[in-house]
Amino acid sequence: MKAQVTGTIHLADNLEVLRKLPSESVDLIYIDPPFNTGRVQKRTQIKTVRSKNGDRIGFGGHRYESIVIGTKRFGDAFDDYLRFLEPRLVEAQRVLAPHGSLYFHVDYREVHYCKILLDCIFGRDSFLNEIIWAYDYGGRPKTKWPPKHDNILLYAKDPSNYVFNYEDIERIPYMTPGLVSPAKAARGKLPTDTWWHTIVPTNSFEKTGYPTQKPLGILRRIVQASSRPGSLVLDFFAGSGTTGIAALESGRKFLLVDNSVTALQVMARRLKDIRGIEWVDFDPAPRQHRPRKPAQPTAKSAGNTKRKPSLPK
Ligand SMILES: C[S@@+](CC[C@H](N)C(=O)[O-])C[C@H]1O[C@@H](n2cnc3c(N)ncnc32)[C@H](O)[C@@H]1O
Repeated sequence: MKAQVTGTIHLADNLEVLRKLPSESVDLIYIDPPFNTGRVQKRTQIKTVRSKNGDRIGFGGHRYESIVIGTKRFGDAFDDYLRFLEPRLVEAQRVLAPHGSLYFHVDYREVHYCKILLDCIFGRDSFLNEIIWAYDYGGRPKTKWPPKHDNILLYAKDPSNYVFNYEDIERIPYMTPGLVSPAKAARGKLPTDTWWHTIVPTNSFEKTGYPTQKPLGILRRIVQASSRPGSLVLDFFAGSGTTGIAALESGRKFLLVDNSVTALQVMARRLKDIRGIEWVDFDPAPRQHRPRKPAQPTAKSAGNTKRKPSLPK
């Protein structure tokens, strides 16, 4: 009997995988695309002019030469980024189930451009929230307010019918519990669209070493609020596989795509104890090798409180 597949992980360009997915087959999408798409974000503009000494012969037998009139860098970087994202977001909208939603994670520099692109693809009415993930880490410039947040745009495929499990959202402590009744204070409050959450702590079990890894706490909240148990969660810029872990923990299936071997190697290590994962165009075995004899616990490791959370196997 074939083992039940809990998740599928592709080593591929996400556009190829997206184009093969059936329409309306995914319940929730979370993506955190890189700004640097791997291309040189620079374009040199050239003008061709008639010149006696030109090295090219053109119309009417005249000589022409090319002169560089400038190199565009920043504006083009945005154009390229949006051009890269657009076909992928069009596919994302197509593969989402009618009750599905998309969380799009980006930073404060690109969010405005991406919002307009997403409005065009999903429709303005489909925009539900801009979640601000606020953290407090890293240097503080003295020349402006230190930027310490990311932006997560939430779109529903159909704004009149989407999954939002209000009751399942983990509550957080009141800032001033003395101002509410003891019962309310004990229950905690629902988070708003501003989420205070630490970055992945350097010395935690969660830390994989993948440079752009996002905290599991953020993904847990997203998966629990916007998908149902047993449904399918897609992350096609999967990186270290945080979305897959959050999906597994809460009984959802996942589909992850990344075009970096390093990312798949990190996922292989992170998911090494999980059965039922289908790996496409990648062999996880070399990264999942287990030593024959388990290491003897030392006094230090026995007292380690930063225990790895257990996942369903
Ligand atoms: C910002 S990281 C995602 C990090 C992830 N959220 C995590 O928690 O680890 C973006 C990822 O997108 C991947 N990527 C970039 N272009 C891609 C493409 N065309 N197809 C698939 N993956 C791509 C990169 O390799 C990188 O791992």
